[in-house]
Amino acid sequence: MKNIIIVTGASSGIGQEFILQMDTAFSKIDEFWMIARREDRMEEIAKVCEHKTKIIPMDLMDEYAMDDLEALLEEEEAIVRILVNAAGFGLIGEFDELSLEEQLDMLRVNCEALTKMTYICLPYMPKGSRIIQMASAAAFLPQRNFAIYAATKSYVLSFSRALNREVNYRGIYVTAVCPGPVNTEFFDIAEKYVSSKAIKKLTMISSESCVKAALRASYQKKSMVVPGICMKAFLLLTKIVPHEVILKLTDLV
Ligand SMILES: NC(=O)c1ccc[n+]([C@@H]2O[C@H](COP(=O)([O-])OP(=O)(O)OC[C@H]3O[C@@H](n4cnc5c(N)ncnc54)[C@H](OP(=O)(O)O)[C@@H]3O)[C@@H](O)[C@H]2O)c1
Repeated sequence: MKNIIIVTGASSGIGQEFILQMDTAFSKIDEFWMIARREDRMEEIAKVCEHKTKIIPMDLMDEYAMDDLEALLEEEEAIVRILVNAAGFGLIGEFDELSLEEQLDMLRVNCEALTKMTYICLPYMPKGSRIIQMASAAAFLPQRNFAIYAATKSYVLSFSRALNREVNYRGIYVTAVCPGPVNTEFFDIAEKYVSSKAIKKLTMISSESCVKAALRASYQKKSMVVPGICMKAFLLLTKIVPHEVILKLTDLV
């Protein structure tokens, strides 16, 4: 039996920050399992961790790799204390100008892989375990030029809140994290074809503060957290102003 924490998207940005903050915060964990494609990046992060780490280089879109992970959980008699689904990416641009395949990959990583990871880990999660799902403030409202990404994050938020209701009676808690822009490599990929609006950069928070808020909310068993004052205000706006009005206004910015 082995108490583990699993983090997807562990090779950079928010996932990497989860590893670093949890490494210093948790003592009763035997191993951190780090999942992403870039093995060299995870090896660098593992070097500074106090805990034992298992680096699992895998493409989350690969069905067979997921099956291997499921087998590994059983083989190692893993007890998953925390699952953090942080892997994900976005692409800015108009729907019919971006490639269909790249946009379908967004669905595969942001929705399908997150769903499958959650499904295969749940049988290994006892009472007191927690799941942290990286959604986004993009979940609150449709977004022109970020249509598929915003839709994937609405899925993550809705799924996570519903799942939280389903597993609470077993003492398992799910927290959806909804930050606005966070200073990571995310925008290097998102801006591959089209740059984002300057206002996004103005509201940017650090991955440190995003993860700190996420871990606090998870500890407090909250179903959802919105890090940063700007995005809290944005959420309020989306609750009181008709979405069509906000969409027209955002076209002007
Ligand atoms: N940064 C933001 O502004 C922001 C705002 C709101 C929400 N989020 C969400 O937060 C999460 C983390 O993003 P980030 O800001 O940390 O971006 P990031 O620095 O680009 O990290 C993304 C992570 O996802 C992994 N990943 C992507 N595709 C993968 C695949 N097919 N298989 C396995 N791993 C894959 C990447 O690893 P490899 O490339 O090594 O595979 C990387 O570790 C994402 O879900 C993102 O949507 C980000």
